[in-house]
Amino acid sequence: MPPRRIVILTGAGVSAESGVPTFRGPDGLWEGHRVEDVATPQAFRRDPVLVQRFYDARRAALAAVQPNAAHRALARLDALWPGELLLVTQNVDDLHDRAGSARMLHMHGELKSAWCTACDRRHPWEGGLLDAPPCPACGLAGHLRPDIVWFGEMPYHMDRIEAALLAADLFVSIGTSGNVYPAAGFVDLARHAGARCIELNLDPSMTSGRFHDSRLGPAGALVPQLVDELLG
Ligand code: OAD
Repeated sequence: MPPRRIVILTGAGVSAESGVPTFRGPDGLWEGHRVEDVATPQAFRRDPVLVQRFYDARRAALAAVQPNAAHRALARLDALWPGELLLVTQNVDDLHDRAGSARMLHMHGELKSAWCTACDRRHPWEGGLLDAPPCPACGLAGHLRPDIVWFGEMPYHMDRIEAALLAADLFVSIGTSGNVYPAAGFVDLARHAGARCIELNLDPSMTSGRFHDSRLGPAGALVPQLVDELLG
């Protein structure tokens, strides 16, 4: 029977062909920094200037990149798939959004969002945060931080994601190394609930052995191929 309920997880590999660097390059650094120096609440407390400058640069860099064939294929699937579909991305870039995916959740937050820790509101954000701009809602300056889920913080939308995984009959993981939980455990949840599980990745991931089907290659080629298979 063809699948009706699909959950798709994407990671940094889906944006690699757009020119967005992945997190775990050969040197183990993310754009020249150790992850613990820029992606933890402790790092932000210790050196807010470094962390704000780092994310300001990542946000500004989005202007120079475009969605690739993988993002576009997933948006096509979203538009044409008659059953249930949820795209869960670990990526903080906006390339799925720009490609047109609508049934989508950012589980690790978004570069183009700022979170006011004074009034707990979130705002669409295009510019920088280093200069401590005031919160558009409460007016207090110096309390906006990147709306990014750092290590040790709870990913967003977990209730909706888990419900979708438990109901899925197809789970597809694309371009993620399987190093970071809870996302790396989604395959176990979906598989246990009876879903067929397919992985598309450039190299074998930490979790490849848990999938029914693991296809190796660039997302820009493998994702359009899978979408064509699904849409018949
Ligand atoms: P990683 O950098 O850990 O892994 C990227 C994966 O994509 C690797 O397995 C690569 O082999 C694969 N890859 C690279 N180029 C590809 C291509 N063209 N096509 C297909 N696959 C390709 O990134 P994530 O697994 O997304 O968290 O990292 C997960 C989380 O760790 C991130 O969301 C971030 C990070 O710390 C937070 O910021 C909270």
